[in-house]
Amino acid sequence: MDVYKDQFVEIKDILDGKYEQKIVKIRGWVYRARASQTVAFVVLRDSTGIIQCAAKKENSSELYQKAKDVYLESSLMIEGIVKKDERAPGGWELEVKEIEYISKGEPFLISKDKSTEFLLDIRHLWLRSQKLTKVFKLRHFIVKYLREFLEKEGFFELPPPIITQSACEGGATVFELKYFDQKAYLSQSGQLYAESYIYALEKVYVFGPSFRAEPSRTVRHLTEYWHLEPEMAYYNQEMNMQLQEKMIVDLCQRLAKEQDELLEQIGQEPKKLKKITSPFERISYKKAIEKCQELGLKIEYGQDLGADEEYALTKDKEKPIFIHNHPKEFKAFYMREDPANPGTVLSDDMLAPAGHGEIIGGSERIWDEKELVRRIKEQGLKEEDYRWYIDLRKYGSVPHSGFGVGIERLVKWIANLEHIRDAIPYPRVINRVYP
Ligand code: 4AD
Ligand code: MG
Repeated sequence: MDVYKDQFVEIKDILDGKYEQKIVKIRGWVYRARASQTVAFVVLRDSTGIIQCAAKKENSSELYQKAKDVYLESSLMIEGIVKKDERAPGGWELEVKEIEYISKGEPFLISKDKSTEFLLDIRHLWLRSQKLTKVFKLRHFIVKYLREFLEKEGFFELPPPIITQSACEGGATVFELKYFDQKAYLSQSGQLYAESYIYALEKVYVFGPSFRAEPSRTVRHLTEYWHLEPEMAYYNQEMNMQLQEKMIVDLCQRLAKEQDELLEQIGQEPKKLKKITSPFERISYKKAIEKCQELGLKIEYGQDLGADEEYALTKDKEKPIFIHNHPKEFKAFYMREDPANPGTVLSDDMLAPAGHGEIIGGSERIWDEKELVRRIKEQGLKEEDYRWYIDLRKYGSVPHSGFGVGIERLVKWIANLEHIRDAIPYPRVINRVYP
């Protein structure tokens, strides 16, 4: 068999019943293998599915031996006859007529009962697992649907710079780097640059990696994550929240409709996502604190909500909720103070149901120059670090709003993952940057 030229079929199409009793060729990797005295089974996987292939000794002892000799993850080409077989996984089996190695390789490193740390050390091999493969397929569709939604809403995508000198979310969590003879940082957020794009394109989004030197070891923090950040001219807080809600509803409805099989395989019920409809509950920060206190949590007005509070507020919810109007003290410098509720800003955080935590952070931005400079100083930041950003308020400033979606947080919630690391191929956390 010629690995390049032969007409190989996809395993999914066999499982869909397109080749009953036909001779087909497939290529892929050994997912499982076992043998009895009379028959050797190789379960082969490609990117579309897995199928059991059976080599009977009575047909050919040479083929039987070849099938018996494979390693897990050996790459193979198999030719065989497609047979319906209720005992086989997926209901179909290939009766082997020919087997060729592409590469037999070495005995595979992963077997049952390996520790999580061991698996993380060989993440480059673990990526092939059925679970991760499915989560990454889902991630692909999540990003695709978000982009298509924004496209439909009239947004343009532009890249943000990743190397920057303007910290967006506070100096405490920046990764500093030596930029020749200057100091620079890895971007915490593309927002400040997205704001500069609205003066040309009005509705824009940036999508790229964001970096946070957060020393927290939790199931929802990465030090490198992917960040989708829309920014809209002439949007206030209300319009901002409505857009976020519409985007998440659109995403969940599309996934439930078009990716129902994948969701089920991952262990998420599509009907749960179908329930994500407008409107989402909105709770002011003040009310949220009162609720937490009623539930017996020790939190005072003025403190940021932590994982315990977010869990308490969302554990019984079926839909995401908004927490809005946080005290300005612990929110970023660029958030506009609410003229109707002084001391609070026009912020909104969207929390996923069932304790998955904050998936979106957004706000109306300060668009008045004096107000911005005052806030920069109040927060102990250096005006000169934000000179260009302040400039944007000098030349045709307009009211505007925006928000940032953490893609891995979104995947964690939608795929119902225990840990955020499985939402990204190579997770970066405080104690891991390898492989
Ligand atoms: O709430 P954050 O810090 O907001 C911003 O960065 C704004 N500049 C966004 C904007 O308005 N354009 O981060 C936004 C989102 C969070 O809601 C969360 O989903 C995700 O980014 N996020 C993280 N995801 C994984 N690991 C981390 N350490 C994260 N920090 C934030
Ligand atoms: Mg936030």
